[in-house]
Amino acid sequence: MQNKIKVIVGLQWGDEGKGKFIDFLVSSENKNKKLVVARFQGGSNAGHSIEFGDRHIVFHALPSGMLNENAENLIGAGVNVDAVSLQKEIEEIKDIAPWWRKNLYLSREATVVVPTAKLMDNAQELERGVKKIGTTGRAIGPTYSDFYGRTDDLAVYEALDEDLFRKRYAEIRNSHLKILSGRFDLSIDEKELAEEEKKFFDGVEFLRGLQSVTCQGFVREKLSSDKEFLAEGAQGTLLDVRFGSRRDVTSSYTTSAGACVGLGAAPSDIGSVLGISKAYATRVGAGPFPTELGGKEAEEWAATKKKQDEADLSYDINEENAFRQGIALRNAGQEYGATTGRLRRCGWLDLPLLKYAIELNGVTELGITKLDVLDGLKEIEVCVGYENMPRPDMNRLREVRPVYKKLPGWQESTRGCTSYEKLPKEAQEYIKFIEKETGVPVTLISTGPGRNEMIIRK
Ligand code: GDP
Ligand code: IMO
Ligand code: MG
Repeated sequence: MQNKIKVIVGLQWGDEGKGKFIDFLVSSENKNKKLVVARFQGGSNAGHSIEFGDRHIVFHALPSGMLNENAENLIGAGVNVDAVSLQKEIEEIKDIAPWWRKNLYLSREATVVVPTAKLMDNAQELERGVKKIGTTGRAIGPTYSDFYGRTDDLAVYEALDEDLFRKRYAEIRNSHLKILSGRFDLSIDEKELAEEEKKFFDGVEFLRGLQSVTCQGFVREKLSSDKEFLAEGAQGTLLDVRFGSRRDVTSSYTTSAGACVGLGAAPSDIGSVLGISKAYATRVGAGPFPTELGGKEAEEWAATKKKQDEADLSYDINEENAFRQGIALRNAGQEYGATTGRLRRCGWLDLPLLKYAIELNGVTELGITKLDVLDGLKEIEVCVGYENMPRPDMNRLREVRPVYKKLPGWQESTRGCTSYEKLPKEAQEYIKFIEKETGVPVTLISTGPGRNEMIIRK
């Protein structure tokens, strides 16, 4: 008997609450069940938050099953591994996950991020000027480019072999420095680079102490066992390198298909796809966002301001001015980047894009997060279509004119609610509306960041 993979993906622009959902699935539903959690793409650009007691943990490359002893965790072949960041992540959880070494596996086919690739990420952003993507600066673009270019990439299996590593790294470093000083005309701060390299070499040494596996073999073995297999997506569908809006995207395949190419699994291994969406929408970094509250003004604000710039702005969630309402929503949802601390742009739920994401991923069930953030709104707006476009054309999203429907809000608190029946009638109606419009059942509703602040609705 072969097990199937349950893929968990974000349906928006990331930060939907994937980390919380994985941690919930691992810890709550399956107390005694053994599981595998496998990350299949991205790298330390991701920030997956988990509330663990009074601790706020943010995972970047580590799979979100690390805090449960029953879960084995795989960093899959499609992931970019930043050894320094990974080591730090593990340091932070050693006390609450003493099983970490036994439960963590690293794919030998994954790609290792080198220090000069981070310089390349910054140099490319500078070169883009006003068209900059607003990357996380974690070398994601350059590392994937090098992988697909098949020249300047460092594979985990190469890093694990001391002799091979020395030779490969020297070649890659040399090649990157040529590009940095040539094309980008950058003078390299040798001292700074040497410091980064020292940390990097320590990081690579650390990688050598981890359990390494061939990804396809590991996945096959686990699928043949009695373990439940969760594949954890990073970023979100609308940041997909091909089907997101070019070029304001990340550099990997963020959809459920990415689980196949990132893990060495077959499409028929996928049994179900849980798509996660906020009850509203957010985006961090540049790019089109049709339902953004405050439009262009809000986009520019988020690109230039920091969290502390908003500290004294206590706008009401029912504020009539859309720009200010957007700030109020950000405050209510604490929409500040888990990885970079940047302001997340905020807006209403966009059903055409949600349906697009559901189709791309083959979503079989929906998880809605942050319902509690909408508490107190008199009216909730939802984009139900575009006046001038029947289906989203991702590369013309800036042109669309959203059509909104207003749904009644609720005044009661839903924070921490664990029962659908106990939700205010309007909140139930909101969930039913999403189900009706998308044709996909909402099986999980999150009502707070905590592990148990979740409604299971089977
Ligand atoms: P991920 O990247 O998809 O894992 O999401 P992030 O961790 O980057 O962002 C989600 C943020 O929302 C985190 O700070 C979570 O603690 C928080 N969060 C998750 N679910 C809920 C929820 O239902 N309500 C509230 N208020 N916060 C939530
Ligand atoms: P999680 O997994 C939100 C965004 C960046 C930028 C674009 C490209 O926490 O949901 P990159 O560094 O990948 O080259 O940046 O993608 N981005 C994310 N936004 N959540 C993420 O991850 C993101 N990872 C990348 O802000 O716009
Ligand atoms: Mg995140």
